[in-house]
Amino acid sequence: MYQSDLLSGKRILVTGGGSGLGKAMGRRFLELGAELAICGRREPVLAETAGAFERDFPGRTAWRVCDIRDPDAVEAMIAALWETGPLDVLVNNAAGNFLAKSETLSPRAVDAVLGIVLHGTAYVTLACGRRWIAEGRPGNVLSIVATYAWSGSPFVVPSAMAKAGVLAMTRSLAVEWGPKDIRLNAIAPGPFPTEGAWQRLVPNQELEQAWKARIPLGRFGDHRELADLAVFLVNDRSGYITGEVVTIDGGEWIKGAGQFSVMDGLTEEDWAALRKR
Ligand code: COA
Repeated sequence: MYQSDLLSGKRILVTGGGSGLGKAMGRRFLELGAELAICGRREPVLAETAGAFERDFPGRTAWRVCDIRDPDAVEAMIAALWETGPLDVLVNNAAGNFLAKSETLSPRAVDAVLGIVLHGTAYVTLACGRRWIAEGRPGNVLSIVATYAWSGSPFVVPSAMAKAGVLAMTRSLAVEWGPKDIRLNAIAPGPFPTEGAWQRLVPNQELEQAWKARIPLGRFGDHRELADLAVFLVNDRSGYITGEVVTIDGGEWIKGAGQFSVMDGLTEEDWAALRKR
Protein backbone atom coordinates (compact mmCIF):
# COMPACT_ATOMS: atom_id res chain seq x y z
CA MET A 1 0.00 0.00 0.00
CA TYR A 2 2.88 2.39 0.72
CA GLN A 3 6.47 2.91 -0.43
CA SER A 4 8.74 1.08 2.01
CA ASP A 5 10.60 4.28 2.96
CA LEU A 6 7.55 6.52 3.26
CA LEU A 7 8.27 7.45 6.88
CA SER A 8 12.04 7.42 6.74
CA GLY A 9 13.49 10.43 8.58
CA LYS A 10 10.36 10.81 10.73
CA ARG A 11 10.59 10.55 14.51
CA ILE A 12 7.27 9.44 15.93
CA LEU A 13 6.14 9.15 19.55
CA VAL A 14 3.24 6.78 20.22
CA THR A 15 1.82 7.09 23.72
CA GLY A 16 0.63 3.77 25.07
CA GLY A 17 2.77 2.20 22.36
CA GLY A 18 3.68 -0.92 24.32
CA SER A 19 0.49 -2.83 23.60
CA GLY A 20 -2.70 -2.99 21.57
CA LEU A 21 -3.33 -0.54 18.78
CA GLY A 22 -0.38 1.63 19.79
CA LYS A 23 1.94 -1.32 19.28
CA ALA A 24 0.36 -2.14 15.91
CA MET A 25 0.81 1.44 14.73
CA GLY A 26 4.39 1.55 16.03
CA ARG A 27 5.34 -1.63 14.18
CA ARG A 28 3.83 -0.29 10.95
CA PHE A 29 5.70 3.02 11.32
CA LEU A 30 8.95 1.09 11.76
CA GLU A 31 8.22 -1.08 8.71
CA LEU A 32 7.97 2.13 6.69
CA GLY A 33 11.28 3.48 7.94
CA ALA A 34 10.36 5.69 10.90
CA GLU A 35 12.26 6.16 14.14
CA LEU A 36 9.91 5.28 16.95
CA ALA A 37 9.51 6.24 20.59
CA ILE A 38 6.93 4.53 22.79
CA CYS A 39 5.84 5.33 26.30
CA GLY A 40 3.49 3.75 28.80
CA ARG A 41 3.01 3.04 32.47
CA ARG A 42 4.22 -0.56 32.59
CA GLU A 43 7.95 -1.11 32.22
CA PRO A 44 7.83 -4.87 31.43
CA VAL A 45 5.30 -4.35 28.64
CA LEU A 46 7.33 -1.54 27.09
CA ALA A 47 10.60 -3.44 27.42
CA GLU A 48 9.14 -6.52 25.75
CA THR A 49 7.63 -4.56 22.85
CA ALA A 50 10.76 -2.46 22.39
CA GLY A 51 12.86 -5.65 22.47
CA ALA A 52 10.76 -7.22 19.71
CA PHE A 53 10.97 -4.02 17.65
CA GLU A 54 14.71 -3.86 18.22
CA ARG A 55 15.14 -7.40 16.90
CA ASP A 56 13.13 -6.67 13.75
CA PHE A 57 14.23 -3.06 13.17
CA PRO A 58 17.58 -2.56 14.95
CA GLY A 59 18.43 0.81 16.44
CA ARG A 60 15.20 2.63 15.74
CA THR A 61 13.10 2.30 18.91
CA ALA A 62 13.33 4.33 22.12
CA TRP A 63 11.09 3.74 25.10
CA ARG A 64 10.29 5.48 28.37
CA VAL A 65 8.07 4.71 31.30
CA CYS A 66 5.66 7.62 31.66
CA ASP A 67 2.19 7.99 33.14
CA ILE A 68 0.81 10.80 31.02
CA ARG A 69 -1.51 11.81 33.87
CA ASP A 70 1.55 13.36 35.48
CA PRO A 71 2.47 16.64 33.73
CA ASP A 72 5.99 16.71 35.21
CA ALA A 73 6.63 13.17 33.97
CA VAL A 74 5.35 14.17 30.53
CA GLU A 75 7.61 17.23 30.42
CA ALA A 76 10.61 15.16 31.49
CA MET A 77 9.89 12.50 28.86
CA ILE A 78 9.45 14.98 26.02
CA ALA A 79 12.58 16.91 27.09
CA ALA A 80 14.59 13.68 27.15
CA LEU A 81 13.31 12.61 23.73
CA TRP A 82 14.05 16.05 22.30
CA GLU A 83 17.64 15.87 23.55
CA THR A 84 18.32 13.23 20.94
CA GLY A 85 16.51 15.21 18.24
CA PRO A 86 13.07 16.72 17.70
CA LEU A 87 9.98 14.62 17.22
CA ASP A 88 8.08 15.07 13.96
CA VAL A 89 4.88 13.27 14.89
CA LEU A 90 2.93 12.62 18.07
CA VAL A 91 0.32 9.87 18.18
CA ASN A 92 -2.00 10.27 21.16
CA ASN A 93 -3.01 6.68 21.67
CA ALA A 94 -2.76 6.10 25.44
CA ALA A 95 -6.21 5.60 26.96
CA GLY A 96 -8.04 4.13 29.90
CA ASN A 97 -11.59 2.88 29.88
CA PHE A 98 -13.95 0.39 31.50
CA LEU A 99 -17.62 -0.47 31.32
CA ALA A 100 -19.61 0.73 34.34
CA LYS A 101 -23.04 1.96 35.29
CA SER A 102 -22.39 5.67 35.61
CA GLU A 103 -24.17 6.06 38.92
CA THR A 104 -21.63 3.66 40.46
CA LEU A 105 -18.58 5.70 39.43
CA SER A 106 -16.54 7.23 42.24
CA PRO A 107 -14.76 10.55 41.70
CA ARG A 108 -11.49 8.61 41.43
CA ALA A 109 -12.99 6.39 38.76
CA VAL A 110 -14.01 9.44 36.71
CA ASP A 111 -10.61 11.02 37.23
CA ALA A 112 -8.75 7.84 36.26
CA VAL A 113 -10.20 8.00 32.74
CA LEU A 114 -10.29 11.79 32.32
CA GLY A 115 -6.76 12.00 33.70
CA ILE A 116 -5.33 9.76 31.02
CA VAL A 117 -7.46 10.53 28.00
CA LEU A 118 -8.23 14.23 28.40
CA HIS A 119 -5.53 15.69 30.61
CA GLY A 120 -2.72 13.38 29.56
CA THR A 121 -3.39 13.91 25.87
CA ALA A 122 -3.38 17.68 26.40
CA TYR A 123 -0.11 17.58 28.37
CA VAL A 124 1.74 15.60 25.70
CA THR A 125 0.29 17.63 22.83
CA LEU A 126 1.18 20.96 24.44
CA ALA A 127 4.68 19.77 25.38
CA CYS A 128 5.37 18.88 21.73
CA GLY A 129 3.52 21.86 20.27
CA ARG A 130 5.39 24.46 22.26
CA ARG A 131 8.71 22.97 21.14
CA TRP A 132 7.68 22.87 17.48
CA ILE A 133 6.56 26.48 17.72
CA ALA A 134 9.71 27.64 19.52
CA GLU A 135 11.90 25.94 16.91
CA GLY A 136 9.76 26.96 13.93
CA ARG A 137 9.36 23.31 12.96
CA PRO A 138 6.34 21.69 11.37
CA GLY A 139 4.51 19.21 13.59
CA ASN A 140 1.87 16.56 13.25
CA VAL A 141 -0.48 15.21 15.92
CA LEU A 142 -2.77 12.24 15.46
CA SER A 143 -5.18 11.40 18.26
CA ILE A 144 -7.15 8.19 18.63
CA VAL A 145 -10.69 9.09 19.66
CA ALA A 146 -13.90 7.06 19.27
CA THR A 147 -17.15 7.45 17.36
CA TYR A 148 -18.89 8.03 20.67
CA ALA A 149 -16.92 11.28 20.94
CA TRP A 150 -19.87 12.79 19.02
CA SER A 151 -22.67 10.27 19.51
CA GLY A 152 -22.02 9.77 23.21
CA SER A 153 -22.35 6.28 24.70
CA PRO A 154 -23.83 4.82 27.85
CA PHE A 155 -21.61 2.86 30.25
CA VAL A 156 -18.37 4.57 29.15
CA VAL A 157 -19.34 8.13 30.05
CA PRO A 158 -15.96 9.42 31.31
CA SER A 159 -14.34 8.05 28.17
CA ALA A 160 -16.98 9.67 25.95
CA MET A 161 -16.47 13.00 27.74
CA ALA A 162 -12.72 12.74 27.38
CA LYS A 163 -12.73 11.67 23.72
CA ALA A 164 -15.12 14.54 22.91
CA GLY A 165 -12.60 16.86 24.55
CA VAL A 166 -9.72 15.44 22.54
CA LEU A 167 -11.70 15.95 19.36
CA ALA A 168 -12.39 19.56 20.39
CA MET A 169 -8.68 20.00 21.08
CA THR A 170 -7.86 18.59 17.64
CA ARG A 171 -10.15 20.99 15.83
CA SER A 172 -9.23 23.99 17.99
CA LEU A 173 -5.49 23.58 17.69
CA ALA A 174 -5.74 22.77 13.98
CA VAL A 175 -6.92 26.35 13.56
CA GLU A 176 -4.67 27.95 16.17
CA TRP A 177 -1.51 26.14 15.07
CA GLY A 178 -2.26 25.79 11.35
CA PRO A 179 -0.33 28.99 10.56
CA LYS A 180 2.66 27.41 12.32
CA ASP A 181 2.49 24.37 10.02
CA ILE A 182 1.29 22.05 12.74
CA ARG A 183 -1.44 19.63 11.72
CA LEU A 184 -3.79 17.81 14.07
CA ASN A 185 -6.12 15.01 13.04
CA ALA A 186 -7.96 12.19 14.72
CA ILE A 187 -9.03 8.65 14.00
CA ALA A 188 -12.28 7.31 15.40
CA PRO A 189 -11.98 3.53 15.46
CA GLY A 190 -14.89 1.19 15.93
CA PRO A 191 -14.21 -2.18 17.52
CA PHE A 192 -10.63 -3.40 17.02
CA PRO A 193 -10.07 -6.34 19.37
CA THR A 194 -7.13 -5.85 21.75
CA GLU A 195 -6.43 -7.71 24.94
CA GLY A 196 -6.66 -4.61 27.16
CA ALA A 197 -9.85 -3.19 25.70
CA TRP A 198 -11.63 -6.51 25.22
CA GLN A 199 -11.21 -7.71 28.78
CA ARG A 200 -12.60 -4.40 30.04
CA LEU A 201 -15.27 -3.76 27.45
CA VAL A 202 -16.63 -7.08 26.20
CA PRO A 203 -18.14 -9.11 29.05
CA ASN A 204 -18.89 -12.36 27.16
CA GLN A 205 -18.94 -14.11 23.77
CA GLU A 206 -22.66 -13.64 23.18
CA LEU A 207 -22.28 -9.89 23.45
CA GLU A 208 -19.24 -10.04 21.19
CA GLN A 209 -21.30 -11.83 18.53
CA ALA A 210 -24.20 -9.42 18.96
CA TRP A 211 -21.79 -6.52 18.56
CA LYS A 212 -20.33 -7.99 15.39
CA ALA A 213 -23.80 -8.53 13.97
CA ARG A 214 -24.48 -4.80 14.32
CA ILE A 215 -21.61 -3.87 12.03
CA PRO A 216 -22.59 -3.44 8.37
CA LEU A 217 -19.31 -4.97 7.17
CA GLY A 218 -19.96 -7.94 9.46
CA ARG A 219 -16.59 -8.04 11.21
CA PHE A 220 -14.29 -6.28 13.64
CA GLY A 221 -11.37 -4.19 12.44
CA ASP A 222 -7.93 -5.52 11.66
CA HIS A 223 -5.08 -3.70 13.42
CA ARG A 224 -3.26 -3.33 10.15
CA GLU A 225 -6.18 -1.38 8.70
CA LEU A 226 -6.02 1.13 11.51
CA ALA A 227 -2.23 1.34 11.31
CA ASP A 228 -2.36 2.07 7.58
CA LEU A 229 -4.87 4.86 8.12
CA ALA A 230 -2.56 6.29 10.78
CA VAL A 231 0.34 6.13 8.30
CA PHE A 232 -1.72 8.09 5.79
CA LEU A 233 -2.48 10.84 8.29
CA VAL A 234 1.00 11.17 9.78
CA ASN A 235 2.91 11.33 6.51
CA ASP A 236 3.43 14.51 4.54
CA ARG A 237 1.41 13.40 1.51
CA SER A 238 -1.76 14.07 3.50
CA GLY A 239 -0.37 17.53 4.25
CA TYR A 240 -3.54 19.48 3.41
CA ILE A 241 -5.69 17.58 5.91
CA THR A 242 -6.02 19.12 9.34
CA GLY A 243 -8.71 19.33 12.01
CA GLU A 244 -10.30 16.20 10.56
CA VAL A 245 -11.52 13.01 12.16
CA VAL A 246 -11.61 9.84 10.08
CA THR A 247 -13.95 7.08 11.16
CA ILE A 248 -12.85 3.48 10.68
CA ASP A 249 -15.61 1.29 12.03
CA GLY A 250 -17.11 -0.85 9.26
CA GLY A 251 -20.14 1.45 9.22
CA GLU A 252 -21.01 0.77 12.86
CA TRP A 253 -21.90 4.19 14.15
CA ILE A 254 -23.85 5.38 11.18
CA LYS A 255 -25.93 2.20 11.28
CA GLY A 256 -26.70 2.91 14.91
CA ALA A 257 -27.82 6.41 13.99
CA GLY A 258 -29.99 5.49 10.99
CA GLN A 259 -33.69 5.49 11.86
CA PHE A 260 -34.53 2.48 9.70
CA SER A 261 -31.37 0.45 10.32
CA VAL A 262 -33.43 -1.96 12.36
CA MET A 263 -35.20 -3.06 9.16
CA ASP A 264 -32.22 -5.24 8.25
CA GLY A 265 -34.07 -7.94 10.22
CA LEU A 266 -36.88 -8.13 7.66
CA THR A 267 -37.15 -11.30 5.57
CA GLU A 268 -37.84 -11.46 1.82
CA GLU A 269 -41.43 -12.36 2.72
CA ASP A 270 -41.68 -9.29 4.93
CA TRP A 271 -40.44 -7.12 2.06
CA ALA A 272 -42.90 -8.69 -0.38
CA ALA A 273 -45.77 -8.18 2.07
CA LEU A 274 -44.74 -4.59 2.66
CA ARG A 275 -44.68 -3.86 -1.06
CA LYS A 276 -48.17 -5.31 -1.50
CA ARG A 277 -49.46 -3.28 1.40
N1 COA B 1 -15.74 0.01 37.37
C1 COA B 1 -15.90 1.01 38.28
N2 COA B 1 -14.87 1.66 38.86
C2 COA B 1 -13.61 1.30 38.48
C3 COA B 1 -13.37 0.28 37.55
C4 COA B 1 -14.51 -0.38 36.98
N3 COA B 1 -14.35 -1.36 36.09
N4 COA B 1 -12.03 0.16 37.37
C5 COA B 1 -11.45 1.07 38.18
N5 COA B 1 -12.42 1.76 38.83
C6 COA B 1 -12.23 2.79 39.83
C7 COA B 1 -11.55 2.23 41.06
O1 COA B 1 -12.49 1.61 41.93
C8 COA B 1 -10.93 3.47 41.66
O2 COA B 1 -11.85 4.25 42.36
P1 COA B 1 -11.96 4.18 44.00
O3 COA B 1 -10.58 4.39 44.51
O4 COA B 1 -12.90 5.26 44.31
O5 COA B 1 -12.49 2.81 44.28
C9 COA B 1 -10.57 4.28 40.43
O6 COA B 1 -11.34 3.78 39.35
C10 COA B 1 -9.13 4.17 40.08
O7 COA B 1 -8.85 2.78 40.01
P2 COA B 1 -7.36 2.27 39.91
O8 COA B 1 -7.38 0.80 39.67
O9 COA B 1 -6.56 2.81 41.04
O10 COA B 1 -6.96 3.07 38.63
P3 COA B 1 -5.73 3.06 37.76
O11 COA B 1 -5.44 4.47 37.56
O12 COA B 1 -4.67 2.15 38.20
O13 COA B 1 -6.33 2.41 36.41
C11 COA B 1 -7.48 2.47 34.41
C12 COA B 1 -7.53 2.82 35.85
C13 COA B 1 -8.74 2.95 33.74
C14 COA B 1 -6.37 3.22 33.79
C15 COA B 1 -7.32 0.93 34.28
O14 COA B 1 -8.53 0.33 33.96
C16 COA B 1 -6.27 0.55 33.32
O15 COA B 1 -5.13 0.40 33.69
N6 COA B 1 -6.59 0.39 32.03
C17 COA B 1 -5.62 -0.01 31.04
C18 COA B 1 -5.76 0.76 29.84
C19 COA B 1 -7.10 0.62 29.25
O16 COA B 1 -8.10 0.85 29.91
N7 COA B 1 -7.13 0.24 28.01
C20 COA B 1 -8.35 0.12 27.31
C21 COA B 1 -8.56 1.28 26.46
S1 COA B 1 -10.06 1.07 25.53
